[in-house]
Amino acid sequence: MKEIKRIGVFTSGGDSPGMNAAIRAVVRASAFYDLHVYGIQKGYEGMIEGEINRLEPSDTANIIQRGGTILKTSRSQRFLEPDGRKIAYENLVANDIDALVAIGGNGTFAGALKLYNEFGIPIIGLPGTIDNDLYGTDFTIGFDTSVNTAIEAVDKIRDTADAHNRLFLVEVMGRHSGYIALYTAIASGASAFLIPEAETTIDGLVEMLQKSLRRKKLFGLIIVAEGNHIGDSAEIAKQLRERAPQYDIKVTTIGHLQRGGSPSNADRILASRLGYEAVTSLMNGEMNCMAGIVNGELALTKFEEAINKNSSPPSHLIKMAEILGM
Ligand code: F6P
Repeated sequence: MKEIKRIGVFTSGGDSPGMNAAIRAVVRASAFYDLHVYGIQKGYEGMIEGEINRLEPSDTANIIQRGGTILKTSRSQRFLEPDGRKIAYENLVANDIDALVAIGGNGTFAGALKLYNEFGIPIIGLPGTIDNDLYGTDFTIGFDTSVNTAIEAVDKIRDTADAHNRLFLVEVMGRHSGYIALYTAIASGASAFLIPEAETTIDGLVEMLQKSLRRKKLFGLIIVAEGNHIGDSAEIAKQLRERAPQYDIKVTTIGHLQRGGSPSNADRILASRLGYEAVTSLMNGEMNCMAGIVNGELALTKFEEAINKNSSPPSHLIKMAEILGM
């Protein structure tokens, strides 16, 4: 096996708070072990364009607290094509890059898997997504911050909802995952939540609202995940207004606010541990895996499993949230 001397690092897909802390850990751990790090700009897009530059430890000063990613990110269409991947690989070879650290979510690891299968370059992935939808880690980098942001917003909405006796639908991100919505609902004491992993219906919501009405409760918070089964929150609000006209219903979409901001303590620590782990794993000959933390312990999981195995919120948590919200 070829000795690893130069590592390329990149961020790809939706950015998440803590990506910078992960880049910093990769660069500094590598420097400690006498490895050189190259930052690839804009994820796979920059790999295709050859935007690859040396990253020194001093380049990672003053970034641990910053959201976004100093390396920028993208969702590259060209990399989905074999020709795009070939050009990307040729650029890695031209820069003498022996191994990669890919920071991102499902799409990033699907791309990494292709690159590994087609060209055999060792890659370790770090779970960087606010969605928390990867198997092989209890939490992904950015999830904690994102939920904190959503909770802060919901707490504020609660004040005005309470003052006016209104029902608010608050839409949070999560196209395929209900983790953000579920955690936000539990932590903000919402009455109900709609997530892709649970089949809540309009009938069910109307029933819940009628029960509340019997207790003379018109105030309420319903957290809606983007990818729920019914539709977007404006559509849900329309249907609820028709079926439960006693309620004054408003809609707020938190949107991309949840993707930015200074990472929380939990995300900085997670990113630092995993960034360090990525470097030592590559040095130990590991590849084609995502580094995560399971029950407090570092764990490596094959990309195939990280992407494809079930990463839904556990049903006992969903049930608990339903019971506490009533
Ligand atoms: O994957 C992270 C995520 O924030 C999802 O929750 C959301 O559905 C998606 O990205 C939005 O992506 P974009 O910013 O490209 O619209």
